[in-house]
Amino acid sequence: MYPMPVTLLGTLVDGKPDFMVLGWITRVNANPPTVGCGVGRHHHSVRGIEENQTFSINFPSAEMVAKTDYCGLVSGKDADKAALFDVYFGELGTAPMISECPLSIECQLQITVENPTNNFYIGEIIASYTEEKYLTDRKLDIKKVNPLLLTMPDNRYWRVGDCAGDAWSIGKTLKTK
Ligand SMILES: Cc1cc2nc3c(=O)[nH]c(=O)nc-3n(C[C@H](O)[C@H](O)[C@H](O)COP(=O)(O)O)c2cc1C
Repeated sequence: MYPMPVTLLGTLVDGKPDFMVLGWITRVNANPPTVGCGVGRHHHSVRGIEENQTFSINFPSAEMVAKTDYCGLVSGKDADKAALFDVYFGELGTAPMISECPLSIECQLQITVENPTNNFYIGEIIASYTEEKYLTDRKLDIKKVNPLLLTMPDNRYWRVGDCAGDAWSIGKTLKTK
């Protein structure tokens, strides 16, 4: 995938919140809304997903790039990564989320696909959280959210640039019927 969104996967392991960087994430189903994520089986986060059958996906802003990267460099086995953030819980109660992230969603695990090195977890979105300051006309505004993107294999974080056109619209200029 090129580029990838940069997110922080939130889990509760032995009652303690843990967050790891997650680039392998995708929408899976429209209704009910589900998302899928590929998580290396040796990660500490896996224990939390399997223990509670829940997880969160948090979208950090570009200002959070160093804290975000740190969550991808160290394991919750060795460090309390949650101490970096203001952590809160939503409806599920076991999917920790990060107040500083402009967008967070909490998910109930539905399906686990065991692949050779990674588990692919499909979770239903139970609730999503943002703040008024990230919205324009009641919709998320990408300039206000200021998300991070990831490119591999050069392994770099990026900010978003300018709008290139309206989706389901700009192509109409080429329609003859
Ligand atoms: C930019 C970046 C993207 C990453 N994306 C993923 C990913 O999509 N899936 C994954 O399993 N690990 C990914 N990782 C690695 C984990 O975030 C990392 O191993 C983390 O320390 C695991 O934390 P944990 O042991 O507390 O669960 C990524 C790391 C970085 C730096």
